[in-house]
Amino acid sequence: MATEGISIGGTPERFYSNTINTPVVNPSSKETQESLKRSFQKYLASEQSSSGPLFIPSKHLAYDEPKHIYTMEEIGYSANNGVSPIAVSEPFRLFSEEAVDIMREEVFNVEAGEEYTYASNIAPKQLRGYAPRHGKFTFNAWKDPETLAIISKIAGIELVPVIDYEIAHINLSVPGDKKELLDCPNDDDDAIVGWHRDSYPFVCVLMMSDTTNMVGGETALKTGTGEIRKVRGPSKGCAVVLQGRYIDHQALKAFGGQERITAVTSFRPKNPHVRDDTVLNTVRPISNLPDLYNQVMEYQLENAEARVRSMLKEVRDSMKAGTTDVKAIKNFLDFEIKALQAVDAEIVEESNVIKGHLPPSCESAKRRKSE
Ligand SMILES: [Fe+2]
Repeated sequence: MATEGISIGGTPERFYSNTINTPVVNPSSKETQESLKRSFQKYLASEQSSSGPLFIPSKHLAYDEPKHIYTMEEIGYSANNGVSPIAVSEPFRLFSEEAVDIMREEVFNVEAGEEYTYASNIAPKQLRGYAPRHGKFTFNAWKDPETLAIISKIAGIELVPVIDYEIAHINLSVPGDKKELLDCPNDDDDAIVGWHRDSYPFVCVLMMSDTTNMVGGETALKTGTGEIRKVRGPSKGCAVVLQGRYIDHQALKAFGGQERITAVTSFRPKNPHVRDDTVLNTVRPISNLPDLYNQVMEYQLENAEARVRSMLKEVRDSMKAGTTDVKAIKNFLDFEIKALQAVDAEIVEESNVIKGHLPPSCESAKRRKSE
């Protein structure tokens, strides 16, 4: 998920955990909704002039409810720890076989191009940011309102892809790839990536390979009491939803020698009033920074705009009534100051970002192992 290799390290639950901490499924502001609609319409307009199959929910979604969805409390965390009381789902069928095959074709078409290919000590081969330009079907599949309704229902909060750039981060490992069992060392030899929390609130990991002869590949979770619990890995067309920003977890190795391709899409709450603990430390080194920074700034500014408009209305209402709500003003200011400081910390000068550079937690694991 980022479990699959993009995100290690990071510490959530920072500053404004107490400010707005209750999971809310209220609709977003009108502005945010309209902006999302504009972006989707822009995409649909470009779609009309392009070739390739269209994503049709009735044909390409094959949703089958997860057998169980673990709550945060069930695994020993407080229900208010994250942005939702939900922790992780069992694997569930999401897309039809045909849909996954189309997505695979898009992956193989783009694989030859270097523009979207990234490698790091964490993962030997990843494709990032190829949708929608080279993955219109994939892009459409993850932006479709029906897909989002499914993911949101499982997650217990209304979610949207965190940014378009994070749609379908692909982790590839193919037979004969010497680095199949990634060379990022861990304390645990069965793990691909050591214990970590993700950069983004929620993640949905879709398996795009046949897992018939695959052994392993589970996600291990560390419960609030320190116990380890394993959630089995998904099979082709199936997915797992995890609130990875707030749960210590690790991806365990898969054995079997065949190709293993997963698509990882990260999500955030749609409601701009829900706190945002997003960090970028694990994605900066494997990103085209103009795409990453501009898209993050766009959604952050849209959310801030919605909150400012809402506060402005409250203030004007107070003016008419000849009253003032000091607590509301203080809460608003506190939230905005901390939100802006948090974004500021994540927008690091390009010259200080080293492509493919190991995040510190991986490096420290390496040191421990060599000792
Ligand atoms: Fe992760």
